[in-house]
Amino acid sequence: MRILSGIQPSGTLHLGNYFGMMRPAIELQEKGEALYFIADYHSMTSLFDAAERRKNTLDVALDFLACGLDPKKSIFFKQSDVPEVTELSWLLSTVTPMGLLERAHSYKDKVAKGISPSHGLFAYPVLMAADILIYDSNLVPVGRDQKQHVEMTRDIAAKFNEQYGQTFVIPEPQIRDEVAVVPGVDGQKMSKSYGNTIEIFGDEKSLKKKIMGIKTDSRPPAEPKPDAEKNIALQLLKLVAPSSFANEWEDRLRNGSEYGYGSLKTALFESYWNSFEEQRKKRAELAANLEYVNKVLSDGATKARSLAQTVLKRARKNCGLE
Ligand code: ADP
Ligand code: TRP
Repeated sequence: MRILSGIQPSGTLHLGNYFGMMRPAIELQEKGEALYFIADYHSMTSLFDAAERRKNTLDVALDFLACGLDPKKSIFFKQSDVPEVTELSWLLSTVTPMGLLERAHSYKDKVAKGISPSHGLFAYPVLMAADILIYDSNLVPVGRDQKQHVEMTRDIAAKFNEQYGQTFVIPEPQIRDEVAVVPGVDGQKMSKSYGNTIEIFGDEKSLKKKIMGIKTDSRPPAEPKPDAEKNIALQLLKLVAPSSFANEWEDRLRNGSEYGYGSLKTALFESYWNSFEEQRKKRAELAANLEYVNKVLSDGATKARSLAQTVLKRARKNCGLE
């Protein structure tokens, strides 16, 4: 089984990225042949600063490796080191109906948020389809917001297969229900573009401040809260703390107790900070050994490229370019 996923270097990675995509991806590296990449071509649709792209790309590499991506088990690389995907993207674009792209939620959301609607942004799902199809991927672990993109990939692959004969494997998205949408400090989906993130790695003081700023209501501690599951701090605590500890807090909220929201948020901060301690150490070691990190990415690119060339050749033959 081939497993594939990507993440854009468009900002600092956060708990939504970690629980929604990175951790499931890291767990899946035990289950098959996994390919994970940094989607730097895609980041060009929303980030227009070259130095920032370079820095973010390195940060994503460090974050992912620190969190447990094992280059002995997975192929880890930079999207643009496999330029074959841009050629495949063209082939796919010729069978992609305009209507399919016009229905993309992600495109509409990004334009609504003020990103300028370039051709690249509109064609984003076609490049993503190429990313997935060029490695004959079976399974794509992502958060819920990417589901439609994987469904579009399936449609595009089916169209090409119908037109030119069996060429591409039809992939399946894998979305974990329990972490499909991790909430941000304001209760909306945690997202770089909403400014409501808790970073995986960051400065202790500012992260504590963010966590203490999580939105809560004004009910006193002793009042029972039958809607405890809606509490954002509790939802996050369930992700970062052992379940017995989180359940204890849930009971306190449901039944009312002497502990207020401030204590809950302090508990959340400590659990979060402790749960990433090992990863923080690993990240510092990696940051002191960039030669190793760059070697991982270039070895990954060599392996990925060879797989990509095989599939691209198949596609070129089937559509009569060769
Ligand atoms: P952002 O919304 O912060 O820009 P991306 O779109 O770069 O995040 O997402 C990268 C990956 O992380 C995708 O697979 C996405 O589904 C997942 N992801 C991002 N935010 C969340 C979240 N709040 N909950 C679950 N998964 C998320
Ligand atoms: N669109 C994805 C995101 O924003 C990133 C991505 C690009 C991707 N190509 C991919 C994810 C292929 C999975 C498979 O998160």
